[in-house]
Amino acid sequence: VTVHLVGAGPGDPGLLTVRALELLRSCDAVVADTLVCPDVLREVPDDALVVSRAGMSQEQVNELLVRLGRRGLDVVRLKGGDPFVFGRGGEEALALAAAGIPFTVVPGVSALAAVPAAALIPVTHRGVAHTVTLSTGRAENGDEPDYDALVAGGGTIVLFMGLGRLAVIAAGLMQAGLPQSTAAAVVAGGTLPEQEVVVADLAGIAEAAEGLSSPALLVVGDVVRVGVALKQATETAFQHQG
Ligand SMILES: C[S@@+](CC[C@H](N)C(=O)[O-])C[C@H]1O[C@@H](n2cnc3c(N)ncnc32)[C@H](O)[C@@H]1O
Repeated sequence: VTVHLVGAGPGDPGLLTVRALELLRSCDAVVADTLVCPDVLREVPDDALVVSRAGMSQEQVNELLVRLGRRGLDVVRLKGGDPFVFGRGGEEALALAAAGIPFTVVPGVSALAAVPAAALIPVTHRGVAHTVTLSTGRAENGDEPDYDALVAGGGTIVLFMGLGRLAVIAAGLMQAGLPQSTAAAVVAGGTLPEQEVVVADLAGIAEAAEGLSSPALLVVGDVVRVGVALKQATETAFQHQG
């Protein structure tokens, strides 16, 4: 009789947590994000109610969770990545708390570091970057991200939800002081079989990433070069083995 706000990880079903799997296998209802891998939903009991949140507003999702909670069901609210990293899990928790519905939060593997890692980019490589600054590429009210603050962080920049606006974002970062030659990568479909990685300098990243599909993450900073070196090193190692 609880609503569990559960992170499903970045896509690869192998990155679901053990706790998430336990809850899925015993729940009465699931309300799933569209980014969640369909394989994961096969784990729920046959008689469980499965609802996709596709086409629902955030307010409708909040109301649905409260309604299911009031019916005394064990509900899994399955969200991509981690529920509290650009996932609006906080809003759902607040709505449940306001309605007096018990809830738990089950952290998930966020795209934040998992997607760069899947592309061999270590976001805090020692001696290269000791900070990571996160941002959404499109602020809710239509504002641009705070490019000055992102650049002032001085380390790796990870941008969510920016695929359609890469040219504007790159221009904003350069205007805020990043050199055109700063390394950048776009990782699309990270951790999934269809994963694609594009690397370019900041000035060329929008053009290089044309044609990639969502979900995609932008990573900016010298750690991208470490990723490129790692990829080359692995390829060479495999060639020697072969
Ligand atoms: C609404 S946010 C949700 C983030 C999620 N809560 C997390 O912790 O990863 C969706 C954005 O996350 C990023 N993202 C999520 N999964 C991804 C993946 N498998 N590959 C690349 N980017 C991903 C993309 O920027 C996408 O537009």
